Amino acid sequence: MCGIVGFIGSTNVKKTLLDGLKELEYRGYDSAGMAVMQSSKIDSFKAVGKLANLVAKTAPFEPKGFAVGIAHTRWATHGKPTEINAHPHQGRHSYIVHNGIIENYLPIKEELTKQGVGFLSQTDTEVIVHLYESFLTREQDAYRAFEQTIEAIEGAYAILLIDEGVQNTIFFAKKGSPLQIGDGDRGRFFASSDAPLIGICDNAIYLEDGSWGWATAETLSLFVGKTPMTAQKKPLPISQSSAQKEGFRFFMEKEIYEQSKVMSETLMSRVMASGVRLDELPEGFFDGVESLRLCACGTSYHAALAATYLFERLSRIEARAEIASEFHYRDPMLRNNELFIVISQSGETADTLEALKMAKRSGLKTLAICNVDNSSIVREADAALLTRAGIEKGVASTKAFATQTMVLWLLALFIAQKRGALDEEQMTAETNAARRSVKTLMVQPDRHEQIKRLSKRYLHGHGFFFIGRDLFYPLALEGALKLKEISYMHAEGYPAGEMKHGPIALADSKLFTIALMPHTLLREKMRSNVEELIARDTTLLAITSEHFAFADDVLQMDERSHPMLEFFEMMVAIQLLALEIAIRLGNDVDMPRNLAKSVTVE
Ligand code: AGP
Repeated sequence: MCGIVGFIGSTNVKKTLLDGLKELEYRGYDSAGMAVMQSSKIDSFKAVGKLANLVAKTAPFEPKGFAVGIAHTRWATHGKPTEINAHPHQGRHSYIVHNGIIENYLPIKEELTKQGVGFLSQTDTEVIVHLYESFLTREQDAYRAFEQTIEAIEGAYAILLIDEGVQNTIFFAKKGSPLQIGDGDRGRFFASSDAPLIGICDNAIYLEDGSWGWATAETLSLFVGKTPMTAQKKPLPISQSSAQKEGFRFFMEKEIYEQSKVMSETLMSRVMASGVRLDELPEGFFDGVESLRLCACGTSYHAALAATYLFERLSRIEARAEIASEFHYRDPMLRNNELFIVISQSGETADTLEALKMAKRSGLKTLAICNVDNSSIVREADAALLTRAGIEKGVASTKAFATQTMVLWLLALFIAQKRGALDEEQMTAETNAARRSVKTLMVQPDRHEQIKRLSKRYLHGHGFFFIGRDLFYPLALEGALKLKEISYMHAEGYPAGEMKHGPIALADSKLFTIALMPHTLLREKMRSNVEELIARDTTLLAITSEHFAFADDVLQMDERSHPMLEFFEMMVAIQLLALEIAIRLGNDVDMPRNLAKSVTVE
C-alpha cells in the first residue's frame, strides 16, 4: 500500500529517495512521485506505473548539495491511478505526501472551493496542502498553520510536507498510519516502514499516534497535541540480506522454500522436551482468561481460524475467530474474561489495528501475534509473540502464515499446560511433532517438479474449489486465497461436508476441485464427500497420503503421523500449485494486480 520516504541531507538526495521507494515497492502501488527542495525552489516529478517510470522522468534532474526531499508510492483509494492523482500534491508553494485516508476531506474541499481554491486531483490528500496554505495566509506563521491543519483533519494519516517559504525543513504528522524518523551518517530520513531505513540508520523514532512537528538536519520539534515531547529511539534490524531473491524466480518462491529454515527460528527456545515456554508473556498473563477471541484479515484470519480448532481440541478453551473488518463495526458482545488475540504479518493492517484498539477500549487483555517488531499492532497490544519469519516481500503471504500457525499451535499447547488439558504423553507427542515440522516444510524438488507439470492441466476451468474438513477447512480457504491472489482465477475454499448443501450444483468436468484428504482427521467422511463430487464428474486433484485411485490427479504426501504435520505438508503443496499456475499464466507473482502487501486503510 502507499509508502513514504523523506530525506534531509547533502549527498545523493534523488538516489536516496528512489532507493527508499524501491524498498517499499513490494508493498504494492500504482504510481510514484517525489518533490525536492533546494534553497527555496521545489522540483516535483510524478509517474504512473512502475518505479522505473519515475526513474526515467527524474533522469535529467540532479540536485547538487544540500536538499530536502519527500517521495511516495501510491495505491489508489480516492481517484484512479493517474499522474494527476499521484503524490506529491501541491499548493502554490508547498508539497505534500500522505498515507491513509482523510475522512472529512469533502467538507474541507467544499469550504476551500468557496474560498476560491482550485483542485487538480480527485484525492483526499490534496485538501491538506491547500488547507495548510489557507491557514498560512491567515496566520502568517507556517508552524502554527501546520498545527491548525493537523487539528482540522480527521481520519488516518502519515504526512510529510515541504514549503518553499520554510527552507531546509520537513513538517510531519502521524495518526493511524506508521511513520518513522531515523538519523544516519548522511542525514535525516523519514519512512513509513523500517525497510528504507535499515542499513542506513541504526535507530529510529517510531512516532506515536497524534505526533506532529517539524525537522531540519539539526533540530527536531515533536509534539503530541500541544505538548512538546522528547523523541524515543529504538534500534532497527541490522541487515536486509534476507530480503533478496537469491536466485529464485520470485520472492514468493523463495519464501516458500524458506519456510523450513524460518520455522527453526520460530521454535527456538520455545519448545522444550515436554512442554512449551513463551517467555515474552508476562507472568500471570492468562490468569482469569476463560475464552479466546482471535481477530485478523486475509491469510492471518485463516491462521486464526485454524487455531480455533487447536485451542478447543488441545487447550479445551473456547475460541472464536473473527474477520477484523466485520468485528469492528458490528457492536460485538465482549466478555471481560476473554483474551483478545490479533494476528498480523505486517502489524500495520488498519482493520486489525482498529479492532485491537476497540478491544482495548472495552477493557480486554490483548495479545498480538505478529512478524514485525515495533509495528503499530505490537506497540498497541498488551503483549506480543513474534513469529520470526523474517521480511516477507511476496504480496501472497506464505512463510508468515506457516509461522503464525506454529505460534498459535504453541500458544494452544502453552494454555493446555496451564489448564492441565493434556497429559505428559500427549504433550510430548505434540512438542515432538512441532519440532518435526521443520523437516516437513522442506520443499522436495521432485514434488515441486510434479506440481510444475501438473499446473498446466489446471489453467482453463470455470473455477476452483479447495475443500477440507476440520483444520483442513481453513487450509482450503488459504489455498483458494493464494490461487486467486496471484492467478486471478476464481477459487473458493469450502468445508467439504457443505458441498452437498449447494455448491455441488456447480460440479462438472470443468470445475477443478482440490481435495485436502488427511490421514489423521475424518478420513472416511472426507473420502465420501470427495466421491460425491467425483460422481458428478468434477476434475479432482487429491492431496493425500492415502491410496486414492478415483482422483484425476494425486499429489502423494508422506506425513500421516500428526494432523499439523499433514497440514504443513499440504500447505507447501497448495502454495507451490498457486505459484506454478500463476507463473504459467505470465502473472507478476510478487506484485499481483490491485493488491498491496500491507493494507493500511480500512
Ligand atoms: C495474504 O496473501 C494477503 N496478501 C492478505 O490477505 C493479508 O494476509 C492480509 O491483508 C492481512 O495482512 P497482515 O497479516 O499483514 O495483517
